Amino acid sequence: MMRAVTARANSNIALIKYWGKADAVLNLPTTSSLSLTLDHTWTTTTVAFDGGQGDADAVTINGTVPTGTARERVVRFLDLVRERAGVTRRATVASTSTVPLAAGLASSAAGFAALAAAASRAAGMDLDERSLSRLARRGSGSATRSIFGGLVQWHAGDDDASSYAEPVACAVDVAMVVIMLSNARKSVSSTEAMRRTLDTSPLYPAWVSHSREDLDSALAAARAGDLPRLGEVAEGNALGMHAAMIAARPGIIYWLPDTVAALHAVRALREEGLPAWATIDAGPNVKVLTSGSQAEEVAARLRERLPGATVSVRRPGAGVQIDAGEAGAREDAS
Ligand code: DP6
Repeated sequence: MMRAVTARANSNIALIKYWGKADAVLNLPTTSSLSLTLDHTWTTTTVAFDGGQGDADAVTINGTVPTGTARERVVRFLDLVRERAGVTRRATVASTSTVPLAAGLASSAAGFAALAAAASRAAGMDLDERSLSRLARRGSGSATRSIFGGLVQWHAGDDDASSYAEPVACAVDVAMVVIMLSNARKSVSSTEAMRRTLDTSPLYPAWVSHSREDLDSALAAARAGDLPRLGEVAEGNALGMHAAMIAARPGIIYWLPDTVAALHAVRALREEGLPAWATIDAGPNVKVLTSGSQAEEVAARLRERLPGATVSVRRPGAGVQIDAGEAGAREDAS
């Protein structure tokens, strides 16, 4: 029996960031992190260990064949699944993202979470969510968290077994407003940028040691329904991460002039009494943590202040799902 399995996963945005690997092979992070899984940011991936094509894995992402590192990361991940499941056949993998690339949310988080779920099931494994989270981690750190919906904590751990994510209690009605400023490909990959920050930035140890306190405050704020406290700590943690990477040698500056303009716009909204706190990942775009009830108003005000930007609202989304319709078995032809 050779099954084609389809799974889908949403992207997530970290409120307390993952930035740095304690173990680059196992993808163990230097800090625990906290994120919000977003709605309508699905990546859908179908995997079958059907022999692939010409004795190699046949991979397509949004209809095109990836090359270089993008392909290597997928093949390496499939090798790990094959090794665990005792499967030797090459695979066919087709992945599509429902989020237009221009939305700035198509990330490795959703991609590797969906791939982990589809590939493990297609290889005959039946993993629980925690095990899936550990497996997704090997593909990309942020994918560890996309297995789950809503607010999610990734425990850094100190070995493969102890480094996984789980959903956490959230008494705050949260939403994210995404400010898309540029869809140019990032100049430095996050993997390389975090390595350089860890190896050369004199500010990095300070960010790491403060991160635990940030996480504790964020978790307490989420439990208490305290959005301003959650927002302040999230914005501070993200700015601290960027300060650490700007101080790397050579410095990594993902910000564009429009990024700084967006940060000021978010502050101006706050001064007007609206709930809005910024976070930035490994790129120039800005995501704004706000309340579900005021998200549309925050988005409208940001559109006024930032006429060149594309602004959209995302609400908390669901974790990984295996598509039952496609998970049916079909006979192996050979
Ligand atoms: C800034 O998960 O893309 O988005 O583990 O090397 O694949 P790799 O890195 P990746 O890094 C994400 C970094 C971040 C912060 C975060 O999502 O926590």
